[in-house]
Amino acid sequence: MKLDVIVAPTSLGEGTLKGNLCAVIDVLRATSTIITALASGATEVRPCMSAEEAKKGAARMPQGSCLIGGEEMGESIPGFDLGNSPLEYMAGEVVGGKIIFSYTTNGTGAIRKAYTACGQPVYIAALINVSAASAVMVKEAKGQQPKGITIVCAGRYGGPSTEDFFCAGMMVDRIARELYKQGIKTQLSETASAASDLAAANRGNGLGVLTSSEHGRFLESIGFGDDLIFASRIDLYSVAPVFDGDRVVLT
Ligand code: MLT
Repeated sequence: MKLDVIVAPTSLGEGTLKGNLCAVIDVLRATSTIITALASGATEVRPCMSAEEAKKGAARMPQGSCLIGGEEMGESIPGFDLGNSPLEYMAGEVVGGKIIFSYTTNGTGAIRKAYTACGQPVYIAALINVSAASAVMVKEAKGQQPKGITIVCAGRYGGPSTEDFFCAGMMVDRIARELYKQGIKTQLSETASAASDLAAANRGNGLGVLTSSEHGRFLESIGFGDDLIFASRIDLYSVAPVFDGDRVVLT
C-alpha cells in the first residue's frame, strides 16, 4: 500500500485523491484546536472556507447552540466568540454541548479540500493525538484496502510547514510499522520518507520543532507561546476525530 505525504493542499482538486484514505494535519493550530474542542465536550466542529461562511452557518442555528471560532493572521476575528488557541477550547463549560463553526487561514480549508479530493471521511490529526489518529488510519486501511494512504499537511499560505511535516513523519512511522505487523507492506513516497527522517532526527524534540518553525516563531511573537507548548504534547488525547464532509465528530 502506498503511503504519501502532501506538504500543502494547493494541488488538491475534486477526485485527485480518489481511492485514498486521508488524514489532515495542522499542528499550529487548527487541528490541535479541533481535537481539543471535541475532547472537551463540543459536539461537532464545522470547518468553513471563510469567516462569512462561519457567521452565516452559525446564524442559521438555534440560539445558544453554537460558537464561532478561528483566526486571521493568528488573531481572533471580529464577531467571533473564540480565537484559535487550543487553550480556549479546553474549557468544558465553554464548549461543552456546542457546535463550533470554525474558520482558520490554512487548516479548515485544507480539511475541506482533502475531503473533496478523496471523496470519503478524512481523519483529523496533530501531535496531541498522533497515535490515536494513526491507529484509526491503520484500522480503516485494513478494512477498506484503499489504493493508498495520504497524509495532507495544511502548511502555511500554500507552502510547507515544518511542524506539520514532523507530525506527518510520526504518523508515517506508526502507520507503516503497524501495517507491517499485520502483514501489509507499505511503499513510502519520497515525501513520506523525508517526513519520517525529520521525525527520527527530532525524536523527543517536538517543542523544539515547533518553536523553531516559521509559524511557531510568528505565534510566539504575537503572544501565543503557550499554544506551542500545548500543541507539542504528544498523545495528550486518545481521540481520532473524523470529517464526514459536513462536520468533524469523534469516531
Ligand atoms: C491556520 O489554519 O492557518 C492556523 O491554524 C493558524 C493559527 O491559528 O495559528
